[in-house]
Amino acid sequence: MAYAHTLAGNPHWLPANPPSVLNDIPGSRGLPFVGNTFAVLKDPLGFTGKMVAKYGPVYRNRTFGGDSVVLLGPEANELVLFDKEKNFSSEQGWGPILNLVFPRGLMLMDFEKHRADRKALSVAFKPEPMRHYAAELNAGIAAQVGNWGDRPQPFYRAIKALSLDLAATSFLGVPLGPEASKINQAFVDEVQASVSPVRTPLPGTSMRKGVKAREYLVDYFTREIPRRREGEGQDFFSQFCRATDESGALLADDAIVDHMNFLMMAAHDTITSSATSLVMLLGRHVEWQDRLRTEIQSLGSNDGGVPYEQLDRLVETEWAFKEALRLMPPVPSIPRRALRDFSFGGYHIPAGTHVGVNTAYTHMMPEHWPDPARFDPERFSPERSKGRHRFAWVPFGGGAHMCIGLHFATMQIRILMAHLLSRYRIELEPGAGTDWQIFPIPQPKDGLPVRFVPLSAA
Ligand code: HEM
Repeated sequence: MAYAHTLAGNPHWLPANPPSVLNDIPGSRGLPFVGNTFAVLKDPLGFTGKMVAKYGPVYRNRTFGGDSVVLLGPEANELVLFDKEKNFSSEQGWGPILNLVFPRGLMLMDFEKHRADRKALSVAFKPEPMRHYAAELNAGIAAQVGNWGDRPQPFYRAIKALSLDLAATSFLGVPLGPEASKINQAFVDEVQASVSPVRTPLPGTSMRKGVKAREYLVDYFTREIPRRREGEGQDFFSQFCRATDESGALLADDAIVDHMNFLMMAAHDTITSSATSLVMLLGRHVEWQDRLRTEIQSLGSNDGGVPYEQLDRLVETEWAFKEALRLMPPVPSIPRRALRDFSFGGYHIPAGTHVGVNTAYTHMMPEHWPDPARFDPERFSPERSKGRHRFAWVPFGGGAHMCIGLHFATMQIRILMAHLLSRYRIELEPGAGTDWQIFPIPQPKDGLPVRFVPLSAA
């Protein structure tokens, strides 16, 4: 990767290694300049399969202008993500991708500083605030899903708009309206910038738009903080404004701004992507749609709403969500940078190496997931989960950086499914969702055209 700008701003980062230090690791640097970037983007899983067949489960690769070592399988995931020895930096792994627009978010921190900030932020994920978000999600989802009946629509767009609106209320405590729309647009611009191939904010580029959007949001959050500290808001932002560190001090204003900015990004497209793959899979597997509907109806709610206390009863709904995350993980690979030399699979890998673990590939390894391409939510039943490697399923990562929002995401999906399936039968248009763009976060190229047929008419 082109690290010069990130290194200049981060003097504590290790300097870039000369490419020759990885010459003993088997692999391919691909074409001049572009390396294997296009081959990876075109068919990430297929490319990985070919590299494994040729070089084995540890290989050297060149994408986006830099060399990295890919480590595959649950043992690699455990080594890098659990990181018992504190060998791997998340900041220096994600930084080149995220630092310009989302600096100092939780994933862009390491070790002690990360631990302390994560602990302070965890207050917003405790049962009381979660109960509050559940009520907000039920109300917000009911208001929109009720209008989705009986017309063809691209699901991806609908769920993206719904998730943004839900974020305005649950995350920011801002009622829907012009201010929420402006904030939402700024987030969309930031996310777009973070994945833009042009990494310098030149005029006319999406990176420039993203940097401007960040300035707008930094200003908005900074102005709001004093009012939120005084108030009793239950949204994430207000909780962060009142959060304290281990010495009892409030988090600094700029830390709150950075964490909010990052959190919105981390939550948004991941939920959108996984809701879309789940709806697609349920559209293709009507028997599972029926099973989930029966489970949801057994709660006895007459408006599709699920109170917080009943969410755990949606057991098979959770299995289906886990299976959708296995088949189409929203974060298909996770980068780190080695801070010290380490060994894996018989190779010596030097400090400074960019390493990647590959969630999507691990999730399709037949030795851990028999008949891996089959949609089979019962894989997640307690009986069938027994004996499985704990790092064979890693859509939320693992170890110190494991997704802090995983229970929030599961809750939002359970509530969404309850409202959808208690009202409608999901019908996909023929061929819907055949092709997906995998990077940076998976989405169907056709937007997943779908029709929600009211159950009363079914
Ligand atoms: C299906 C939805 C989601 C998926 C698949 C997902 C996936 C992930 C993954 C893989 C990581 C770890 C990355 C790494 O180790 O480098 C992560 C971290 C994170 N996620 Fe999520 N996420 C989801 C939803 C959410 C939501 C809803 C929130 C917030 C409410 C959230 C907030 C975060 C934050 C703040 C981190 C950084 C944690 C840390 O570094 O300590 N995510 N997520």
